[in-house]
Amino acid sequence: NAIYRAGVLGRRPAVPTDFAELERRAKKASSTTGWAYVAGGAGEGRTMRANRAAFDRWAIVPRMLRDVAERDLGQDLLGTRLTAPVLLAPVGAGQLIAADADLHTARAAAAAGVPYIFTNQGGTAMEETAAAMGAAPRWVQLYWSTDEALVDSLIHRAEAIDAGALVVTLDTTVLGWRPQDLNLGSLPFAKGLGIAQYTSDPRFQELVASRKPNKSGKTEVTIKAIQALIEITRNHPGRFWANLRSPKPRASVETFLDIYSNPRLSWDHIATLRERTRLPIVLKGILHPDDAKRAFDEGIDAIVVSNHGGRQVDNAIASLDALVRIRDAVGPVPKILMDSGIRTGADVFVAVALGADAVLLGRPYMYGLAIAGQRGIEEVIANVIAELDLTMALTGVKNLSEVSRELLVPNPA
Ligand code: FNR
Repeated sequence: NAIYRAGVLGRRPAVPTDFAELERRAKKASSTTGWAYVAGGAGEGRTMRANRAAFDRWAIVPRMLRDVAERDLGQDLLGTRLTAPVLLAPVGAGQLIAADADLHTARAAAAAGVPYIFTNQGGTAMEETAAAMGAAPRWVQLYWSTDEALVDSLIHRAEAIDAGALVVTLDTTVLGWRPQDLNLGSLPFAKGLGIAQYTSDPRFQELVASRKPNKSGKTEVTIKAIQALIEITRNHPGRFWANLRSPKPRASVETFLDIYSNPRLSWDHIATLRERTRLPIVLKGILHPDDAKRAFDEGIDAIVVSNHGGRQVDNAIASLDALVRIRDAVGPVPKILMDSGIRTGADVFVAVALGADAVLLGRPYMYGLAIAGQRGIEEVIANVIAELDLTMALTGVKNLSEVSRELLVPNPA
């Protein structure tokens, strides 16, 4: 309503209110490598397209005359109060789009009242990002390192910043095949972007310190190392020259590349989690109904049905299709979040109707960031929630529990 009124009164929004234009403007505002990284997907891009096509296979059937003057989009999820069924997804190496991407996102999420899931591959230490949010809700995402002491250290830090949940991402034990990045030779982590969660970690610093110097014993200064150094010393420019003379920054990048993900990850690791944290545990990246069932059998608090925005496996099942199969398999009670392909409020409506308790936005908010910084993110969030609210009103529902599959039909078109 407020958005409409502002529009009627002639105030122009900072970001376009339709996704196609949002995307176009964000591309214009981004560097070539930044755009390849954020907008790109795995392989031929089939999973990314499937994520969108799946929404087109459902149609909403509105109901009339149901008094929808008072509407409530809120609900409780794992002890976090949501004002709408929307969270911000963890997005790593956001500095490719804007300096201080994590801080802008944190402030926008706090202002908009939606939880922000901090990426494990951020450009800002989680303590600093949390401080930018006051008491607003934040969750913390974890990539399981090959170093178990580092896993514990990251969990401990997440608890210390009052994370509402620990989100363990399962689908990135190795990085997907990403031609857009590969063709430009621009994988961000090789440049040392997105490693602030590591370089700020005491256990990681121990690993770097104990790293053996290279054979010649000399400091090898390469472009990569300097880029890494700029990143690592960004908040402390005075340290740049001191660090340049020390082999450590390069050692940080190399240590990171050695330990950041664990292809051996298995259910045995997950089984240890309950003893390692008091936080609610969320598993992100589940697509098969049997994996979902197993997760809930193991006492996991929630899952995120996700194909990582189509960035990992090309020609994978659309996330929305996986949601339907998984909700059918586990029944109505277990908590299920969903992401990958959500672009509009109407999409959120369909995902909730098909069994999602909430959804995560990924690229849309990064596009808002690219165009208009923190304000751009705030507007993207507000637009999605406003359209969801209108869609609910216009389909005759007052709260999320009324958003059900009865309101959808398979699209006859
Ligand atoms: C991601 N995603 C992601 N997920 C995660 O668990 N940790 C991470 O660090 C990242 N990094 C990341 C970077 C970029 C540039 C993108 C686009 C995505 C996946 C993200 O959390 C989410 O699953 C998808 O972005 C959702 O799909 P949409 O909304 O982008 O279609």
